[in-house]
Amino acid sequence: MLLKRPRPSVIALLFAMSLQATPARAENIEPHYAGSKTCASCHAEQSRWQHTVSMANAMQLVAECPILIEHPKLTFREEPYSYQIVRDGSKSIYTVTDGKETITVPLSYAFGLGEAGQTYVFELNGKFFESRVSFFHKINGLDLTMGARNTKPKSLEEAAGRQQDAQDARECFACHTTGGVRANKLHLETMTPGIQCENCHGPAAEHVASARKGGGKPVIPAKLHDLSTEELSDFCGGCHRTWSKIALSGPHGIPNVRFQPYRLTNSKCYDSADPRIRCTACHDVHQDLQRDAAAYDAKCLACHTAAKGAAQVAASVPQQKACPVARKNCTTCHMPKYELPGAHYQFTDHTIRVVKAGAPYPN
Ligand code: HEC
Ligand code: HEC
Ligand code: HEC
Ligand code: HEC
Ligand code: HEC
Ligand code: HEC
Ligand code: HEC
Repeated sequence: MLLKRPRPSVIALLFAMSLQATPARAENIEPHYAGSKTCASCHAEQSRWQHTVSMANAMQLVAECPILIEHPKLTFREEPYSYQIVRDGSKSIYTVTDGKETITVPLSYAFGLGEAGQTYVFELNGKFFESRVSFFHKINGLDLTMGARNTKPKSLEEAAGRQQDAQDARECFACHTTGGVRANKLHLETMTPGIQCENCHGPAAEHVASARKGGGKPVIPAKLHDLSTEELSDFCGGCHRTWSKIALSGPHGIPNVRFQPYRLTNSKCYDSADPRIRCTACHDVHQDLQRDAAAYDAKCLACHTAAKGAAQVAASVPQQKACPVARKNCTTCHMPKYELPGAHYQFTDHTIRVVKAGAPYPN
């Protein structure tokens, strides 16, 4: 019997914060990575798509970055500064000038795939900087990086980008690479760009060796399928931000639409113990994001019976009210999309609800 459990209370929240470390990604052990390519021979189904999905490419080396290769010259102007990113062989050179002085520096890393932005990280005087301009697919060019929109640079260096302190840089690489951060230190020499199998499933060299050898006691990674709905939300929330993180420190209002674990938990549909509303009920992270609204209908109907008197999925599974208005494309009305200022991209609100005309955005 699945019981409806309340949303986390403030006490649950403080408890959850003490457990923030996610199960498979404990960072204080010396890891033994095997690399995603080794998984394919035995886990073909998960591996067929995973390397092409956007999470797997959440960070790219500049030498291999398709956006920079396909756009050999990008320019942007914000008085009094001019920006250029010009391709030179396998490098992309970033130039920022105020007309008097100029900073010229090769870009090191490309973060994101340009849907809600592609932002560049470069090194200057031994420090990492996040570029003040980003590439956006929707405008097929550069615009201010979202976080830079409400700032005014006080120097040419600030106009080039925001200097990252050690913690910023660690967090950036922890969320966008595999093995880039270990024991709370940057390890760029051994990182693999993007979110690969072992970011989520943990370093698996011993698992691979044991599976190849056979016999004995097999070493098997923790089965993420066994996480509860709430634990999985916190697991994804390690990067997509947890409910407790946003509830405690914001942001509130439309800027939090990109933090799905928070938004979903605030929905009446959410039940911390019901697998039909877990992140992976709707998303197979080993495949591309499903963009066809109709594909989600069955997920909603698993709880909201289509018609009066329709057969229950199982006697023990509670059913919810059906829609008086429509029978398909549920998400188009109940998971509205919002464009974040400066993101040039629409995020999907995971606070599933009846959207009333003129009603404010629920925090
Ligand atoms: C030589 C074959 C082999 C290779 C290579 C391999 N695995 Fe496995 N993996 C297995 C076997 C066998 C199991 C146990 C399946 C079972 O008993 O349910 C398993 C189980 C798992 C599980 C738990 C799944 C479950 O249902 O219990 C995960 C997660 C996993 N492997 C991830 C990986 C990752 C990530 C890689 C690459 C770094 C990898 N494996 C490489 C054979 C392999
Ligand atoms: C290690 C950090 C990390 C974890 C853990 C993580 N994600 Fe992501 N996810 C990202 C990043 C970064 C992106 C953005 C990729 C890009 O466009 O550059 C992303 C993108 C996505 C997308 C959008 C894909 C697209 O094609 O637009 C979905 C859906 C998603 N994640 C779901 C999940 C789910 C579900 C989980 C938990 C099972 C999860 N993520 C766990 C970092 C993470
Ligand atoms: C706590 C984890 C986390 C940290 C830290 C983080 N990101 Fe992300 N980033 C994400 C997730 C999750 C997404 C996908 C969802 C979204 O767009 O909000 C994302 C999306 C992006 C995108 C948009 C990608 C796209 O294709 O639309 C860019 C650009 C980006 N991040 C750059 C950075 C840079 C640069 C840093 C470091 C200064 C950074 N991120 C730090 C988790 C993180
Ligand atoms: C963004 C995190 C993420 C990435 C990256 C990822 N997985 Fe998974 N994987 C999961 C989650 C979460 C589940 C459990 C899904 C569910 O709820 O049933 C899972 C399930 C699995 C399973 C079934 C066993 C289990 O743990 O339930 C295997 C095998 C597996 N993944 C292998 C891989 C391989 C191989 C790759 C790389 C090609 C990979 N995964 C990449 C998150 C991830
Ligand atoms: C009931 C189904 C459902 C559940 C559960 C769900 N999502 Fe989604 N998600 C969607 C839909 C629908 C989209 C939009 C797909 C599209 O673009 O057409 C989406 C889009 C996304 C995106 C892409 C960015 C955006 O906002 O459009 C990310 C990232 C994401 N979901 C993460 C998560 C995470 C993390 C969880 C668990 C906390 C989760 N989702 C649970 C239905 C769901
Ligand atoms: C785990 C089961 C479950 C899933 C999956 C689910 N819901 Fe719900 N939903 C609920 C419950 C429980 C309520 C609250 C019912 C009540 O209060 O009477 C609810 C309430 C609603 C409401 C009314 C909210 C309001 O503002 O009053 C809408 C609309 C809704 N769901 C639509 C959807 C859509 C669309 C999907 C798929 C994207 C979905 N639900 C998926 C269980 C679920
Ligand atoms: C064209 C827009 C639209 C689509 C598509 C749609 N709905 Fe609705 N839905 C509404 C509106 C509007 C209401 C509020 C009706 C009212 O209050 O009179 C509603 C109400 C609901 C409710 C609350 C019912 C109640 O009695 O409280 C649920 C649950 C729901 N929808 C689920 C779904 C599901 C599941 C789907 C897909 C099978 C879906 N909706 C498709 C517009 C839509």
